[in-house]
Order: sequence, then C-alpha cells, then structure tokens
Amino acid sequence: MSNSSEAELLHTFKGIPFTTRSSPELLKSLDTFKAREDDVLLVSYPKSGTHWLAGVITKLYMTQVTVTSPIEFGDISQLEELNKLSSKRIIPTHLDYNMLPQNFKNKKCKMIYISRNPKDTAVSMFHYYRDNPNLPTVDTWTAFFDLFLKGNVVCGSWFDHFLSWAEHEDENNILFLFYEDMKKDLPKVVKEIALFLGLNISDNDIQDICEKSSFSEMKNDTEKENSDPNHTVCALTSNRKLIFRKGAVGDWKNYFTPKQNIRFQEIFNEKMKLSKM
Ligand code: A3P
Repeated sequence: MSNSSEAELLHTFKGIPFTTRSSPELLKSLDTFKAREDDVLLVSYPKSGTHWLAGVITKLYMTQVTVTSPIEFGDISQLEELNKLSSKRIIPTHLDYNMLPQNFKNKKCKMIYISRNPKDTAVSMFHYYRDNPNLPTVDTWTAFFDLFLKGNVVCGSWFDHFLSWAEHEDENNILFLFYEDMKKDLPKVVKEIALFLGLNISDNDIQDICEKSSFSEMKNDTEKENSDPNHTVCALTSNRKLIFRKGAVGDWKNYFTPKQNIRFQEIFNEKMKLSKM
C-alpha cells in the first residue's frame, strides 16, 4: 500500500486522471506522434486483459515485433524512443478514442480493443490499487467502488472509455474483443485475431499459442522471470507480478453487495443505452 498522497501520484489531463508516470508534456505532445501504417495498437481500459492479449499477439508473430511501452507512458522522450524502433511496433495504450493521436486514425492503423465485464474490471483494479505503490491508497472496497463509479480513478470512467471506442465499432481497422470470450474459447478468439492481422497460422500453432497463454503458464513465466520484470504493457506499474492475480470471470460476486450491484446495474443501463454493443 502506498503512503504517497494522491496529488503526488496523479494529475488530471483533459479531465482524465493519469499517474505522474505519464508526464503532462508527453500528453500534450501526443498528437505530434508519427504513426506507421503497420503499427498495431492494443487498446484497453486498465485491468481488462491487456497483458494476456499482448502475450497472444507476440506469439502470433513469427517475425520480430516489439511490444513497446504504452504510448502515454513516460516523459516527452518517449515519442523519440518509439520513433527510433526499426521493428514492427505493437503499441499498448489506455487512452480513450478522443485522446488517441490523430495520425493513427488517419493512417487507419489496426487497433484491437479488449474489454471486460466492468464489475470484474473494478474488482481487479481495486486489488491493483491496493498493491501498487504508483497508485493512491484505497482503504476499502466500498470506498473504491464509489471512486470507480464516479470515474475518479486512473484513466477515468470505464463507461466513457468504452463508449468512446464503441462508437467506432463499424470501422474495419478496429477489432473488438471481450475477456470473457477469451476465457470461454481462446482458440476461436486467437483465430479471429490472426485473421484480423492477416497472419496465416496453422491449427497446431494456434493450439500451442493457447497453451502457452494460459493464466498459469503466464503467471509461472513471470514468477520464473523468464520475461523482463521491468517491462509491462501497463502504464501503471513496472512490476509484472502485480498483473497475474486470479484471472477469473465473475470474481465481482465475491465483492459486490446486492445494493452495490443494483446501483452499478442502474448506472450501466443508463450509460450504455445508446451503445449497440
Ligand atoms: P484479475 O485481477 O481479475 O486476476 P491487464 O493486463 O489489463 O492489467 O489485466 C489484468 C487482469 O487480466 C488480471 O485480472 C489478470 O489476472 C488477468 N489475466 C492476465 N493474464 C491472464 C491469462 N492468461 N488468462 C486469464 N486472465 C489473465
């Protein structure tokens, strides 16, 4: 748990809370970013399965690709660092659609948006807040629940984030995925991703990728530190061990009181009524 004050850890940019690990100068300069036609964006609200998806995508590419740090992470030198990379770039981001650098939109770069039941996302984020020294202290689930519903958490409101992207669901260069579908039938989703990325992968390779991308395999890899412990695709930590907690669908039922569930559902229904998804 952190002892640092909220003001030391968070700042607000265009109404959205960011950690101080995303410098205001970088956020202001994002629109100058030079996208490349073959960039692939991996987009998510925090705790939606970003690392899982990144693990799958890197295994799908046989050739050299680099999963970069999130575009909004770091100081102004981040733009130059990403510019220097010669390999194909898989770029994670937690930005909402409106804040995404225009260049990615103009070049119609491929983007994959992964979403998860916001109730499970909230619970996952609660644990993440508690264990991550880069985020403000939260004492109780009840307190966090209120912050989450108000969008008073890092990356802002889940609803606003989701809706900003869902408006673009008809665009061919954006693929929408759901964490729950990956849990239910990973090979099916992996095939869908391969098709979207234009990759020809055999059924055997798909099977192999799925086995290597299971929660236990990915968690073990992190524990053995096969992967670089200082590199995560999440802008909120550099500690990979914080990422793999439970990996379950429906954990919210262990946290939400019946009253909280009703309140959440009412807000969900109200906010999502205009979304086709
Ligand atoms: P929980 O906290 O519910 O366990 P992100 O990568 O966007 O930060 O999301 C983290 C969430 O994805 C965590 O959820 C984590 O356990 C889950 N996750 C990571 N890898 C996974 C995998 N291979 N299978 C299922 N869930 C996974």
